[in-house]
Formats: sequence, structure tokens, C-alpha cells
Amino acid sequence: MVKKFISFIILAALAVTGLTGCSSSKEQGAAEAKEKQPIIVQGPMPIEAEKLAGHLEDVKEEKSGSFVFYKGKLEGYPVIIAKTGKGMENTAAATALAIEKYDPAAIINQGTSGGHDPELNVFDIVLGERTVNLGSLKTGALNEGEGIEPKEWIPMDLMASEGSAGEDPDAENIRYFEGDEDLLAAAKAVKGKYEKGKVVEGTIGSADVWNNEVDRINWFHEKYGTSVEEMEGAAGAQIAAAYDVPFLGIRVLSNNKVNGGQYNPDTAEANQAYVLEVLKEYIKTK
Ligand code: 5AD
Repeated sequence: MVKKFISFIILAALAVTGLTGCSSSKEQGAAEAKEKQPIIVQGPMPIEAEKLAGHLEDVKEEKSGSFVFYKGKLEGYPVIIAKTGKGMENTAAATALAIEKYDPAAIINQGTSGGHDPELNVFDIVLGERTVNLGSLKTGALNEGEGIEPKEWIPMDLMASEGSAGEDPDAENIRYFEGDEDLLAAAKAVKGKYEKGKVVEGTIGSADVWNNEVDRINWFHEKYGTSVEEMEGAAGAQIAAAYDVPFLGIRVLSNNKVNGGQYNPDTAEANQAYVLEVLKEYIKTK
């Protein structure tokens, strides 16, 4: 009788622990399923990422190589600020890594830029309706001693085919990456909250080059329709497109060679304040 009672107690205890274990892992699973896909905001330089990360709650820092990811929440929604480092290579690598690691719902690439459009002033912001790689070029065929003719260089689309881009006439095109419609809609909806300049839709050109020759800048402006240049956007856009992740570039002019606009580093923070407004607006739709 006593033996029976003891085994009953043991069985009951096992059943209870078993059940509790089961329900807690179920709850955990449900919580994980409910966890929303994060939005990633990229900034190349410390001044373009660290302050922005300061606006998030519950921030945890994760590093991978030279890339730093500040994982936090904005109004309860998961947001990751990625300090990518400058340039196309850093940005491409940081974008692929972040997509693989965090499965983001969307990516915003933001920072400073140089004006190509004389109508745009320092502190104006360009929403990247399109982003384009300005370093993807094929030169003309000239022999030794015939010099170099940069104005004759031809845009080259590395995504045109898997064959040789140098030989393929179909690759002699400009490849634009479209900004995501929903991100653009959120950015347009909060234009009124930015008071330091105007916010316009435009074309962001990228390459690991800082152009200071006004004729060269004008050549890009006319041929590619660029509003601004910087060193990251098209690299992020290309990788985001490869994974089908919504992407938008948001760039403030920190300088404009074509109308004498002097470099002002304060533009970086002004842009971040606007990007935060875009984020809040976009989160409402998620
Ligand atoms: N040309 C190229 N990059 C620029 N940047 C700001 N202005 C320009 C410009 N006129 C940004 C780049 C890079 C850093 C050098 O500043 O995106 O991150």
C-alpha cells in the first residue's frame, strides 16, 4: 500500500515537471514566433552610427569582424544599428552578414553625401528612389600613347549576365537599384518633421571615390541623373536586392562642390534625427 502510494507520488511529480517543462518551452516558442523581424539601419562612420544607437532601448552590442551591430528596440520594435565602416566593400560585407545573422524586414542605409545637383544645399536630404554604382565602368579602347578619356567611359552593368561584362554589349547599361516603395512612403510621410532643409526624392550614386572635379560631377549628374554621391548606398542596395530585402538610402548633403556648399559635419546628426522619424513611421505599418 505504502509502496503504491510512493510510486503514485513519483509518477505525479514526473507528470507535473514534464507538463511544466512542456508548457514553458511552448511559451518560449510562441514568444520567439511573435518576435518581429528587425529593421537594420546602417551608418558607415562612428558619427553616423553610435549616436543613433543611443536612441534605442535595451541595446546589446555584437561584433563580427570589424562590423558592430547595436541591437535594441525603438518604441518596442526591434531595430539594429550597423556600424559598417566606410566604402563599398565594407558595406556589401556588412549587409550580407546582417541579412544572414538577423533576417531583417528592411534595411536603411544612411549618412552624409556630396551634392551633384546645384539645386540641393548642405542639410538637404535625398531619399534614394534609385541607387547606382558610379564605379562600374568600361573604358574606351585606346592604344599606348593615346591618353585617357574619362568622358568616353561607358557604364557597365555587372548584373546583366553571368558572362564576360567586357565583351557583352548588353552589359553597357546603367544598373539602378530601386528604393523600396513602403520605406519611401514612410520617409515621404514624415518630410514635414525635417526643418533643417528640404527632403527630395532622387538618385544616389556610390563608389569608393570622392569626386572634386566639377566637370566630372556634372558628367555623372547628366549621364546618371545623380542627385548626390557617397561611398556605400549602391553596395548595400545590390546585396539587399540579392536577398530580396527592402532597402532605402537616405542621404544628407554634408557638402556640395557644384554650388560651393562647404562641408558641415553637423549634417550627420540632423539626418539621423530624420531617419528616426522614418523608422517610427515605418514601424507603424509592421
Ligand atoms: N563624395 C564621396 N563620399 C562622400 N561622403 C560625404 N560626402 C562625400 C562626397 N562628396 C561620405 C561617404 C563616406 C565618407 C567619406 O563620407 O559616404 O562614408
